[in-house]
Amino acid sequence: MSSELIDRVPKQIFLAGRWRDAADGSRFAVQDPGNEQQLCEVADAQDADAREAIEAAVAAQEEWGATPPRERGEILRRAWQLMTDRADDIARLMTLEMGKSVEESKAEVTYAAEFFRWFSEEAVRVEGRYGRNPAGTGRMIVTKRPVGPCVLITPWNFPLAMGTRKLGPAIAAGCTMIVKPAQLTPLSMLNLAALLQEAGLPDGVLSVLPTTSASRVVSPALEDPRIRKMSFTGSTEVGRKLVEQCAPNLQRMSMELGGNAPFLVFEDASLDDAVSGAITAKMRNNGESCVAANRFHVHSSIAEEFVRRLTDEMSALKVGHGTEDGVKVGPLISADQRDKVVELVDDALSRGARATTGGKPVDGEGFFYAPTVLTDVPPDARILHEEVFGPVAPVTTFDTEDEALRLADDTEFGLVAYLFTRDLDRAIRVGERVSTGMVGINTGMVSNAAAPFGGVKQSGFGREGGDEGIEEYLDVKYLALGLKE
Ligand code: SIN
Repeated sequence: MSSELIDRVPKQIFLAGRWRDAADGSRFAVQDPGNEQQLCEVADAQDADAREAIEAAVAAQEEWGATPPRERGEILRRAWQLMTDRADDIARLMTLEMGKSVEESKAEVTYAAEFFRWFSEEAVRVEGRYGRNPAGTGRMIVTKRPVGPCVLITPWNFPLAMGTRKLGPAIAAGCTMIVKPAQLTPLSMLNLAALLQEAGLPDGVLSVLPTTSASRVVSPALEDPRIRKMSFTGSTEVGRKLVEQCAPNLQRMSMELGGNAPFLVFEDASLDDAVSGAITAKMRNNGESCVAANRFHVHSSIAEEFVRRLTDEMSALKVGHGTEDGVKVGPLISADQRDKVVELVDDALSRGARATTGGKPVDGEGFFYAPTVLTDVPPDARILHEEVFGPVAPVTTFDTEDEALRLADDTEFGLVAYLFTRDLDRAIRVGERVSTGMVGINTGMVSNAAAPFGGVKQSGFGREGGDEGIEEYLDVKYLALGLKE
């Protein structure tokens, strides 16, 4: 069943509507992180391929940008339908290359498809304005046009949804695209390219270049002034380098970078809601998400009870290969990722923290780490300051609202914060004051195709999804019309 699924996925470069090998014929291996076995090999794009993809994107831009918006919307709508019809296979494929449980992968397929449905509806709602100028000497016409060919760089943690969140608005706006999927998870994106072709996306509008060298594919594109936009989801460190690379040609940028989300539980919170919200915010995607709750700050009067209940829930989660029945926690993506989690937990333990469950990797094949709760975590523990990207919940306490806010903002990141309270005034007060782009109030889930996803500070800039998402792919054009009245 799994090998049949893998057999059906294209493993070549997708360029100008054709599937073909890399310029030098090279390929690289894709691994199942749940058993460390090779799934298949895919074409390893070279700079010559990147240059060809640039030419294809530039050549297709004018005609594609002039396509009726309804036509672009219909392509997205058909793609949403195909993804929905094939959700089981798409999810299983994702689990094989990325590790998360099939249940989690199905949730991602739904989330990913929703970006196509949302932007199919947005394609026909790109509006401008017409007005009299203040001096009364003419008219002002403001319209919008596609920004132009884009480079889209997608991560391994949500190999499909982070793709559709970029491709959806780019298609709706009329931009051509070159996509560089993550080296660790290229199959979901290659499969999506085939599905988009089936949905009617014209040749040349999309190229997908899997590669072992991001710079080999991305640099030629950013060095070319005809490429007008870059969108990246990934680490802050890499994001900064890409910003520098976009500087000479002043390409538009969307940067969805790292996070260090605080999860605040006030003394008046519903503990049932806080614990179930904690499981969602922490354990969605094995904790490998930039919106994962990274640290829990709990009012000291309820901290003991919160830790006890969270520990019970975390220790009950079944860990295993993502395709096994009942599994809730799959492997981490790689040995490096697992080792980083080991390092952060060991650092906290060596500084006096205590693990009430987990605290170590799982022996055997695959990159597993046990769901972990840490208490008595000292303020200088690295785990409170660095993005964990794993199934570990460090808990600390606070006594006042001001202290909670100070702890929440004690980070260079500003993507999302979660807060649990029954006091509406407090919810709004803290929600408005905390320095993040998004806030989950009494919920562990903020992600939604209809919402503007994005951060402040070192978490980046730009918004994906919502009404805002398509604006990232549009330039404003103003026509001044002189008029003798
Ligand atoms: C991410 O982890 O990069 C995005 C998560 C989401 O969209 O929910």
